[in-house]
Amino acid sequence: MSSDWRVPGFTSTASLRPEALFGPAEPGTGGPPPERVTRAAGCRVWDEAGREYVDYVMALGAVALGYGHPAVNRAAEQAIAAGVVGPLPPPVEEELAEALSRHIPWIEAVRFFKTGAEAVAAAVRLARVATGRELVLGCGYHGWLDWCQGGGVGGVPAATRALYAELPFNDAERSRQQIREAGDGLAVVVVEPVVVEEPRREWLAVLREETARVGAVLVFDEIKTAFRLAVGGAGERYGVQPDLVVLGKALANGFPLAAVGGRQDLMAGVARTWISSTLATEGVALAAARATLAVVVSEAVPAHLHRVGTRLLHGLHRLQREHAAAVAGVGGVAEMCFLHYASDGVSRAVARGCAARGVLFKRTAYNFVSLAHDEATVDRTLDVLDDVLRSAAHQL
Ligand SMILES: Cc1ncc(COP(=O)(O)O)c(C=O)c1O
Repeated sequence: MSSDWRVPGFTSTASLRPEALFGPAEPGTGGPPPERVTRAAGCRVWDEAGREYVDYVMALGAVALGYGHPAVNRAAEQAIAAGVVGPLPPPVEEELAEALSRHIPWIEAVRFFKTGAEAVAAAVRLARVATGRELVLGCGYHGWLDWCQGGGVGGVPAATRALYAELPFNDAERSRQQIREAGDGLAVVVVEPVVVEEPRREWLAVLREETARVGAVLVFDEIKTAFRLAVGGAGERYGVQPDLVVLGKALANGFPLAAVGGRQDLMAGVARTWISSTLATEGVALAAARATLAVVVSEAVPAHLHRVGTRLLHGLHRLQREHAAAVAGVGGVAEMCFLHYASDGVSRAVARGCAARGVLFKRTAYNFVSLAHDEATVDRTLDVLDDVLRSAAHQL
């Protein structure tokens, strides 16, 4: 029996369940993979039996410096010693806001949240306040809340669904057409700037031009990409400035924090709506985020992720050539990448085979490198993948 019976589906996102990582148990696919981890440090984690793994899940991209980074831990410990919460917000809230706007200049003002889903919902709310319109076009994953759910999710009112439509990633012409058709009903376009592949500059330019043209707000959901592709995420790497940006995941290196920031006039809309969360300004995650940002900048973390991630990505392409029957392709960018397997059976066998050899490598988007992954670790991982792919051939 799975150990999750008192916590149905485990509490966190579906992507962190053992079945998501390894697939349902099957005979002949190696020993039992880990169900829970008890400790994490750098790029390594340990399971309940004390077995060690090199990890590429990295808490689904919430950790870019490595688990338990000492400078981040120290800042968090000081915030714990200072009492965690109080009757008024701590100074670190403003200090972090200032640091973010220094390094991501289009963040003129910012509000903090505990989860990414809340922060993207706040961006959409602010866009609706600013425009007095309701329609939303979205692209990518933006969390579990009602406003962005497609057809398959139960419990979402039809009236809410009717206000949301999907925009096609990287399709400049259809995106232009959809934005024009929504016209003066369109409040906001919310996009993940990287979905499996790099965005075309032309697509980003169309989003920027066409939203401005119809008077809608452009939001970049940089929850996975900020502090990873560049400090300022895809907006910085591809040179396109959104009106609002949403940050999360790597923002506090695993401590729960997300943020929406951007144009001062849009952020001022908070006074005309109700956006509130009791623990949004608890001091531990804010202090962790301030320390994280300092390390991201001083250690040029995005450059490290690009270098080490490029080695991994090139290695995955080589594996695809050498195991063409088992690997159908390579997805993602250097900083977050994965293999497309020829079948579900192969993907399960590879994930389980890697776990049996001490590597946690995701079957689907994305595997993340961190500051704690170095070239030697990546090379060993590629050797493990090579071995495992060879023995996974029987799944074909
Ligand atoms: C791009 C993006 N937006 C929003 C979210 C939702 O964030 P959270 O799970 O913290 O609510 C995620 C989470 O994976 C994400 O990747």
